[in-house]
Amino acid sequence: MDKMWAGRFSKALNKEADDFNSSIHFDNRMYKQDIIGSIVHAKMLGDKGIISHDEKAQIINGLSGILEDIESGSLAFNMDAEDIHMFIESELTKRIGDAGKRLHTARSRNDQVALDIRLHLAAQCEEIGKLILNLIEAIKDKAAQNTDAIMPGYTHLQRAQPITFAHHILTYAFMLKRDFERISDAVNRMMSQSPIGSCALAGTTYDTDRYFEAEHLGFSGISLNSIDGVSDRDFCLELLSDYAIIMMHLSRFSEEIILWSSWEFKFVELDDSYTTGSSIMPQKKNSDMAELVRGKTGRVYGDLMALLTTLKGLPLAYNKDMQEDKEAIFDAVDTVKKCLSIFAPMVATMSVLKDNMYKAAGEGFINATDLADYLVKKGMPFRTAYKHVGEIVGYCIKNGYVLENLPLEKYKEFDSSFTEDLYNEISLETCVNKRISAGSTGPESVKTQIDYITEFLNEKGIH
Ligand code: ARG
Repeated sequence: MDKMWAGRFSKALNKEADDFNSSIHFDNRMYKQDIIGSIVHAKMLGDKGIISHDEKAQIINGLSGILEDIESGSLAFNMDAEDIHMFIESELTKRIGDAGKRLHTARSRNDQVALDIRLHLAAQCEEIGKLILNLIEAIKDKAAQNTDAIMPGYTHLQRAQPITFAHHILTYAFMLKRDFERISDAVNRMMSQSPIGSCALAGTTYDTDRYFEAEHLGFSGISLNSIDGVSDRDFCLELLSDYAIIMMHLSRFSEEIILWSSWEFKFVELDDSYTTGSSIMPQKKNSDMAELVRGKTGRVYGDLMALLTTLKGLPLAYNKDMQEDKEAIFDAVDTVKKCLSIFAPMVATMSVLKDNMYKAAGEGFINATDLADYLVKKGMPFRTAYKHVGEIVGYCIKNGYVLENLPLEKYKEFDSSFTEDLYNEISLETCVNKRISAGSTGPESVKTQIDYITEFLNEKGIH
């Protein structure tokens, strides 16, 4: 394919160099944003008298036809084109002749690509946001069904204190809520600086209206420095960081689901439709989806690191290195979308094995803090109570007791203030139900958390 810039050269580009240079095989996904950007650009050029009204109308018509034809499948991308921008422009000129050659007035591919990625990412983030909300909803529903499921809460992966399963998984709803908000913050910042009209780097001698273009493309402002307009990819890095954090959250959740699904825990069972078997071991039911999400987290971190590294040595303004932004961010977008979308039904269909959780919570001296609190409520300083209970736990371990079945006479040998009511005070139900502090595992607090998440989802249109 003839290059638009061929005039200056006496030889055609080497075929391998041409392929190496080309980005159409990955930037064609921005066709819609490229066309919409060009339509608004043509409007501005026409309204400002930089091109005629007739040329403006021809360009807008031509571009709308191209958009329709791509969407209907009747126009295929020419993979010999250098990039999506060149493809659309040459297709336009093919269709409408000379008027098409006026579209690129007062613009460059440098500001064009900076615009297209922003518009494309804004649309992708809209979808990612919806997927996050769906997952939050699945978690919230699962929590609401399991407010009475007592399980061991862990620190250092050692049984620590009894909690409810609802309380535990709501943690992920709060993480994802922050992810949602982080993405909308980043999108708002990205959409406050329209780069279009920065041109190659220095602006233009035409009397353009960048504010008109910004407004018609959904921006709240323009990049006030044209060099910054074409060389800034901070928004890509910000979003990649946000995606990396989402993946880190999904990966932690995956790790727990994998552990909980093991024979050693058996706290949950994933639905058959979200698990796989082994080709050799007939008994196996593997949590492949969760493992893959955990595994793909590395990819998204890699995408962030790749782009940070690509950008770190670049002199201003545009450099071709920046073409590398797209594969990294598109890969991260695709990965995050796939992971979020598999996660919601996986959580929704997961069975919670309450009896196993309860049994596990009854082992491991999980109520030792509550036993110490029992003594504190009888007037003992916490440190003294802590020491007594430590000794009692040590005695139990040595002699095969748990706190629930150690006889009262034995308790009294450690401290005379122990009375019969201690057994009720250290029952798992009491340990959970008596947690009254805000944010705690107690039923009032968990209800408040579920209501809060429900309200957030309602505000975002999820009922
Ligand atoms: N395909 C290029 C990219 O993605 C478009 C911008 C090209 N600009 C240039 N001056 N060669 O970065």
